[in-house]
Amino acid sequence: MQKVILTGDRPTGRLHLGHYVGSLKNRVDMQNSGDFDEIFIMIADAQALTDNFANPKKVRDNVMEVALDYLACGIDPTKSHIFIQSEVRALTELTFYYMNLVTLSRLQRNPTVKNEIKLRNFETSIPVGFLNYPISQTADITGFKATHVPVGEDQLPMIEQAREIVRSFNNIYGDTLIEPTVVLPKNEVEQRLPGIDGKAKMSKSLGNCIYLSDDEDTITKKVMSMYTDPNHIKVSDPGQVEGNVVFTYLDVFATDADFAKYLPEYKNLDDLKKHYQQGGVGDVAIKKFLNNILQDILRPIRERRENLSQNIESVYNILKEGTKYAQQKCEKTLNEVKQAMKIDYFESDEFLKEMIDKYH
Ligand code: TRP
Repeated sequence: MQKVILTGDRPTGRLHLGHYVGSLKNRVDMQNSGDFDEIFIMIADAQALTDNFANPKKVRDNVMEVALDYLACGIDPTKSHIFIQSEVRALTELTFYYMNLVTLSRLQRNPTVKNEIKLRNFETSIPVGFLNYPISQTADITGFKATHVPVGEDQLPMIEQAREIVRSFNNIYGDTLIEPTVVLPKNEVEQRLPGIDGKAKMSKSLGNCIYLSDDEDTITKKVMSMYTDPNHIKVSDPGQVEGNVVFTYLDVFATDADFAKYLPEYKNLDDLKKHYQQGGVGDVAIKKFLNNILQDILRPIRERRENLSQNIESVYNILKEGTKYAQQKCEKTLNEVKQAMKIDYFESDEFLKEMIDKYH
């Protein structure tokens, strides 16, 4: 069986470090592993409209921001097809038919949807389009016959629901769709990078993000303002590393090579942690160290982003080509789905033949 990746993001803002460790890095590694036959990366504008329907300009503008972030992080258009969801019309049609296979109560029980309804204060006036988005997401995945869906852990219930719909479809109409498997980031911190304020998760709405497009000074300011250990006041005080965001980030980003380069008085992170816990290491020192590491990671991404944005026509063409390819692939799946559901009337002469047999 072919190995196919489908994943994507809602274009509601620029991507940040949480996206980078939680999914982008993983996607680039998968792309470059050569293990996959096809890779589709979708800018989910139609899904973004399910809760931003009154703000289409925001979605439109962020389509390009997200495309720039993808390319800057190393998504390679010769290996991965980047496309715009709303332009692939077959996806809407697939969604329509899958809607028959899902109950209202099942949608309302979806933990991701439940949580997002609470966050958005929809309470009892939930737009149908929003409630429906797990079904549309199933169309995204199955429309491309995706076998692997690399996402953050918050998306697990979505993939679970997609698998249910696939099983249900295949049971009723015969084997047509492929059950996807989820690919999660390696460890817990990567799945849920906290914001610079130490709150649960880096997120645009909490205003605690480091963006991939942030300039050097902004990154430095954000790192220097990071939440550490509120009881670590004097340098000589013993400090806590648990719940200390600087150390959480160092766990994710610091390599032994970074120590050799920027903090040679310590061999590795365990060494530094031990000293910090005993007392004698200042917060400014660990923040400066983290800042150096993050600058090294983000500088090339930012520079690539700037170069690309100076040649925006080429990015536009990448999206256009990727979308054209995606349309063809999804159209093929839609035809198979319609055939399985016996709603293919004019695609072949099958229907006419049956009717001739019946009426003649
Ligand atoms: N819901 C995903 C997010 O908010 C974006 C998305 C839409 C997606 N369709 C998808 C992810 C299909 C994976 C597969 O990040």
